[in-house]
Amino acid sequence: MTDIAKYIKQRAQGKGVLNVLSGVSRTYLNGTGTKTLSDAAWLKQKSSRTPPQFSMIAIETMSGCNYRCSFCPIGTIKMPSGRMSMELYESLLDQLADFTGVIHPYLFNEPLLDRRLPEMVRMAKERTKASISIQTNGSKLTEELADELTKYATVVVNDYTTDLSVLEKVRQYPARPELVLVDRDPDATLTNRAGNVLGRPTVLLNQFCVRPFNEFYITHDGRVVLCCQDWSVQEVMGNVNDNTIEEIWNNEKYTARRASLLRKERTDLCAKCDFPGI
Ligand SMILES: C[S@@+](CC[C@H](N)C(=O)[O-])C[C@H]1O[C@@H](n2cnc3c(N)ncnc32)[C@H](O)[C@@H]1O
Ligand code: SF4
Ligand code: SF4
Repeated sequence: MTDIAKYIKQRAQGKGVLNVLSGVSRTYLNGTGTKTLSDAAWLKQKSSRTPPQFSMIAIETMSGCNYRCSFCPIGTIKMPSGRMSMELYESLLDQLADFTGVIHPYLFNEPLLDRRLPEMVRMAKERTKASISIQTNGSKLTEELADELTKYATVVVNDYTTDLSVLEKVRQYPARPELVLVDRDPDATLTNRAGNVLGRPTVLLNQFCVRPFNEFYITHDGRVVLCCQDWSVQEVMGNVNDNTIEEIWNNEKYTARRASLLRKERTDLCAKCDFPGI
């Protein structure tokens, strides 16, 4: 299978076909048609007879990144640094024992900087029913690490270098379905991360957004943020040190935000965000 086919397959499995179409439009078609895709996601959610259940959970095991990509807030937003305790990590896995979706063992960071990652990924695979998916800038990837991680996870290597040196390195390793190589444009214009990317204006899009219906994001210190746009940790939905994942997912704050998004009203963090909603 080609890398692009592998990438599309793992993205469709994790986030669904509407998300893949939206990603294609944002990357190649200047976002054409994303409003229609957002409306389709809205209709699907509005007519759903079952309560929302996340299909992806991001667990940031440690903060920080060794890169400074132009489209990423990491170099310009002051963020708390630290790493998640093993105790908290294991208690999250206990709560996720029956979870069949996708676990991302990272959030606002470069996951391969955490030396505990192979062990953490193995534990996640063995103690839950989930698939594990990692995105990395590949700078710290070695053949040995690739062998270890791909026993338990899909590893998407994003090469942001201009000379494609990361892909050149990783192409020397044995190819396998779980290792997905992506040539990324280091000068791309991605989302405004809800006002967290320097020089990018905020925008009020009164559109639906699927993320609080499908995705759950935990920072390394246990705070649960609304979504992966919230680099300033502005909208804390709860804290897994104080409440269970399920309690937070069903709390008043989440319920209120979902209700406003179903009315296509974007408030607070959402009122600054240019993500089209799917
Ligand atoms: C925050 S990174 C963390 C993983 C790893 N450091 C990497 O870059 O692959 C996760 C994803 O967010 C993407 N990303 C970075 N800045 C973004 C932005 N402004 N809007 C949307 N996605 C962005 C990255 O390209 C990557 O695919
Ligand atoms: S996109 Fe990933 S690799 Fe680039 S600076 Fe952000 S976290 Fe680091
Ligand atoms: S609209 Fe933006 S900030 Fe709000 S949940 Fe969606 S992606 Fe996050």
